[in-house]
Amino acid sequence: MRKPFIAGNWKMNKTVDEAYDLAIELVTGLRFVRDIDVALCPPFVSLTAVKSAIANTMLKLGAQNMHDQDRGAFTGEISPVMLKDLVEYVILGHSERRQHFGESDAFINRKVHAALRHGLHPILCIGETLEQNERGETESVLARQTREGLAGVSADQVASVVIAYEPVWAIGTGRAATAEDAQQRCAFIRQELRAMFGEVADAVRIQYGGSVTPANAPELLCQPDIDGALVGGASLKSEDFIAIVRAAHP
Ligand code: PGA
Repeated sequence: MRKPFIAGNWKMNKTVDEAYDLAIELVTGLRFVRDIDVALCPPFVSLTAVKSAIANTMLKLGAQNMHDQDRGAFTGEISPVMLKDLVEYVILGHSERRQHFGESDAFINRKVHAALRHGLHPILCIGETLEQNERGETESVLARQTREGLAGVSADQVASVVIAYEPVWAIGTGRAATAEDAQQRCAFIRQELRAMFGEVADAVRIQYGGSVTPANAPELLCQPDIDGALVGGASLKSEDFIAIVRAAHP
């Protein structure tokens, strides 16, 4: 009932030419894709090149961030108005944005509203840090980030939101959560969504992110509440990303 969704978060990697080449490799390698959504999220400057590489294929495009205002004096920022005809998805509240750029739940919530207002699907990232995990605060952190990130969103709107559960200690460390723990956390997030929005929570896709590889993807992706993956490092190697998409195939 929930279509699997694999997204590649290329982060601050690849020049425009390299991004185009990687997208072309993925187009070739992902011809088998059916009944699954796959999105590539390159840096802003490569969006147009990647869009042309994936034209007329099943692949979709996403941005890695966005400002909440439509336009104005925000030097260096990119607005939803600029993205809405270019991409379908936008990653919001990634832990690297929260950590290195001081993004708050309130700011991320404004971005979620801005994305929805312009017909973009937010991929809202949430997840606990190592310290929070060790202090036993994981569930309270996930509940807060879910509630504050989605404050004021309607039940109708939330169906087009994707949540990415990304434990911060698992990102880029080679130390993924176990499939059992990831499933438990994603089920907890769905329970929070049910409390906020009712039955529509069953339609919301929840991805796991954090050191997903071809080796651990099969076990993670067969969990009942894990509907896909947000892939960082492994999305930069075409053969790894293709293998992860294969593992998600229904
Ligand atoms: P990783 O990154 O797969 O390299 O751990 C995931 C992410 O940050 O989205």
